[in-house]
Amino acid sequence: MNHSDLISITKQYGGPVYVYDSEKIISQYKRLTTAFKNVKHLKLNYAVKALSNVAILRIFNSLGSGLDTVSIQEVQLGLMAGFNPEDIIFTPNGVSLEEIEDVAKLGVQINIDNLSILEQFGARNPDVPVCIRINPHVMAGGNSKISVGHIDSKFGISIHQIPHILRIIDNTGMRVNGIHMHTGSDILDVEVFLYASEILFETAKHFQDLEFMDFGSGFKVPYKEADIETNVEELGKKLTKRFNNFCKEIGKDLTLAFEPGKFLVSEAGYFLSKVNVVKQTTSTVFAGIDSGFNHLIRPMFYNSYHQIENISNPKGKERFYSIVGYICETDTFASNRRITEISEGDILCFKNAGAYCFSMASNYNSRYRPAEVLWHNGQSHLIRKRETIQDIVANLVDPKIEEFATKELVKEA
Ligand SMILES: Cc1ncc(COP(=O)(O)O)c(C=O)c1O
Repeated sequence: MNHSDLISITKQYGGPVYVYDSEKIISQYKRLTTAFKNVKHLKLNYAVKALSNVAILRIFNSLGSGLDTVSIQEVQLGLMAGFNPEDIIFTPNGVSLEEIEDVAKLGVQINIDNLSILEQFGARNPDVPVCIRINPHVMAGGNSKISVGHIDSKFGISIHQIPHILRIIDNTGMRVNGIHMHTGSDILDVEVFLYASEILFETAKHFQDLEFMDFGSGFKVPYKEADIETNVEELGKKLTKRFNNFCKEIGKDLTLAFEPGKFLVSEAGYFLSKVNVVKQTTSTVFAGIDSGFNHLIRPMFYNSYHQIENISNPKGKERFYSIVGYICETDTFASNRRITEISEGDILCFKNAGAYCFSMASNYNSRYRPAEVLWHNGQSHLIRKRETIQDIVANLVDPKIEEFATKELVKEA
């Protein structure tokens, strides 16, 4: 997909717009499966939260992937995309017992991350096997909001509470068929990952009915040229060796599972937005775009870096710009960034816009969420329409209170 393809997509579907390249999604999936090709039973469960459009889920279904989900709605989207319930794992945090039971009834693998729910679920559903999310107490991840395996984190059951887990299993007669950890996103060091894995191997020995070990995710992708990324090939070699030895040790061929989101879709995504205003102040040149944190919140939420290219003038002279949105709070996408000269009306292209971008979009400022387009085999396909004012008001209910009603509403009533 080149600049002129991206510009024609923006013209055809209207901007701002998200575009996803199926080829990149497929090649990332194959890269990871190749890195772990010597594992007898490998399962990649794509983390739906990263990008949940059903058209994207269908790509993963065709590749033989499973799904990692965190809400019953994500499970429902997965089923709509054609996944079998047994290929979906439900790894929520802090959701109600009722929601977990509703998902279990659909035949989805349940992953439980606290003792209270484990006890209640086990007592009421002793025949439903569950996976347990362990907190390995490892500090990893690129940012405090995405470091989730450390001791102060709300996620998982502490490794120090294994005796308590075993008591619950004994008392309820429930079966634990999987063990899981997710230390956090953006892990740079393979050794840190392997260190946390050792804790999972140690924990796994306590569970006789184990069928799979889920090592979560956290693979870092490059955001800039020459940026460090998780070396999945090195991880593949080292973890495969350790995992295969472990299987031999316990005399059982377990499944090795991962649940990557960012690694599979981040680089496949582009966000295209038009420059509304170029504003020179005494200190800065701002380029104000027709978007804001309602469409792309990652830079403001966790200081994430998105490379930004002016695809309307890619060969222009480079200058320094601060790229800002139209929201009524400060929403800075990039500060003092070197970008080729920007004129009003130019289209800026944000890279790494596949993961946690559209899926975190909102209607803040009563703006529409943008369209999504899939680029496949050299052709664009609309996979989500841009919203309209009808979508914004769709769920509003007129309470028909006389003193607040406009003439029209009174007439309607
Ligand atoms: C439990 C769990 N698994 C998988 C993921 C996906 O992580 P990533 O997008 O870094 O691959 C997350 C991300 O929040 C997560 O919380």
